[in-house]
Amino acid sequence: MKTAVILNGPNLNLLGTREPAVYGAQTLADVEKLCADACAVHGFKLDFRQTNHEGVLVDWLQEAGRNQAAGSVAGVVLNAGAYTHTSVALHDAIKGAGVTLIELHISNVHAREAFRHHSYISPAAKAVMAGFGVQGYPLAIAGLAALAAVHSDR
Ligand code: DQA
Repeated sequence: MKTAVILNGPNLNLLGTREPAVYGAQTLADVEKLCADACAVHGFKLDFRQTNHEGVLVDWLQEAGRNQAAGSVAGVVLNAGAYTHTSVALHDAIKGAGVTLIELHISNVHAREAFRHHSYISPAAKAVMAGFGVQGYPLAIAGLAALAAVHSDR
């Protein structure tokens, strides 16, 4: 059974109390439960993490890339938070790690401030999802399963 790695960046630990009109009322623990249920449906083990630190995300992406190459990881769902819009280091880490990655945002970043319209993650990502609220997480896990099915047809 392969692992779906779900990585959350800065301020996502505040879900539930942080701008609920934008991000909803569910907490990060609620999101982890949604992910656990989706992983059970799709036959993945869940590895769910959050950090406020950019370099920690770089380390985790490199780890996921090594584990994907070794066959134990299916891919990564990354909500990089505000680092999406600033981080060349995360762009380089995704490319360098060679990891299959779905970029995820709870909100529709394209309907928000102009500074959220550019992503350093998107050019390195396999797929991009935004605007489904926290239900985007289980949808992204379904997406990882769909990508894995495509690859197993080869
Ligand atoms: C976010 C959108 C980002 O612009 C923001 O900085 C976040 C959360 C989202 O999930 O909608 O922290 O990634």
